[in-house]
Amino acid sequence: MILVVGHKGMLGQELMALFGSSARGVDVDDIDITDLQSVQRVLVTLKPRVVVNAAAYTDVDGCESNAELAMQVNGEGVAHLAMVTKEIGAKLVHVSTDYVFDGSKGSPYLEDDLLKPLNVYGESKLAGEMNTWFNPDHLIVRTQWLYGHAGKNFVETMLKLAAERKELSVVDDQIGSPTWTYDLARAIKALMDNNCTGTYHAANAGFVSWNGFAKEIFRLAGLDTVVKPMTTTELGRPATRPLYSTLDCSKLVQDTGFVPQPWQDALKRYLELRPTK
Ligand SMILES: NC(=O)c1ccc[n+]([C@@H]2O[C@H](COP(=O)([O-])OP(=O)(O)OC[C@H]3O[C@@H](n4cnc5c(N)ncnc54)[C@H](OP(=O)(O)O)[C@@H]3O)[C@@H](O)[C@H]2O)c1
Repeated sequence: MILVVGHKGMLGQELMALFGSSARGVDVDDIDITDLQSVQRVLVTLKPRVVVNAAAYTDVDGCESNAELAMQVNGEGVAHLAMVTKEIGAKLVHVSTDYVFDGSKGSPYLEDDLLKPLNVYGESKLAGEMNTWFNPDHLIVRTQWLYGHAGKNFVETMLKLAAERKELSVVDDQIGSPTWTYDLARAIKALMDNNCTGTYHAANAGFVSWNGFAKEIFRLAGLDTVVKPMTTTELGRPATRPLYSTLDCSKLVQDTGFVPQPWQDALKRYLELRPTK
């Protein structure tokens, strides 16, 4: 049995839909990953073959003012999962982020590039990556700019704002690959099916700025909302973001045959399948 930890989250719900009856899900009501005893109790009782950790403290700006909680969930929580999966002979699949990089490379990041987070969230996720090593049978999947039908995300925020305003300013100096959780879940499954271990990058193909992403959302949704440029400095969020942190996914393609679709195609499909709100 596959156990999805964080099954109520945006990616967790997508993984549950994909794994179907071969999976069980737990979330913060059933397991607190910051508490070793809680992790032991759940994992020893359920005895999963694989644990997929989709639980995290994902509020990037919130992490700046709650650094201790960020480290407990994103760092120590992963240590607990790694130690207990090792104890019960299970594999640990862990999801991480492009925010472990500083964005200064100037080309897509490879799995073994220099890790240099710029913010507390990235530091805590890096600690989590290190802590997976308590279980040698682990897989780390780094991804970025997620959106999915099951969660609060950039696409939904833009569509909500467009219903209220004719004109929006969106940052045009951060570049990344918008990634649909539907595609990420399939990439994770492909890695698991191929018994991959170690670190992999998985994101939709191609890259764009948040500004370009917003324009494509509105174009596909048939909206004439005007999207004006603004800089990251002008936006002034608490957490520093990497400016160019696209992920090179060729190792995923090479080892599994799974080819991520272009971000524009994924977005089009996401909007077509989006339930009317
Ligand atoms: N979202 C992105 O753009 C993005 C980008 C790159 C990487 N990632 C990574 O992708 C993974 C999935 O992200 P997501 O956006 O799907 O996350 P999400 O929607 O925020 O879901 C995370 C889930 O974890 C639960 N959780 C929080 N603390 C917990 C604890 N102590 N014990 C057990 N469960 C706990 C949350 O419960 P509550 O909601 O009740 O707190 C929530 O259900 C994460 O590892 C994230 O770091 C995300």
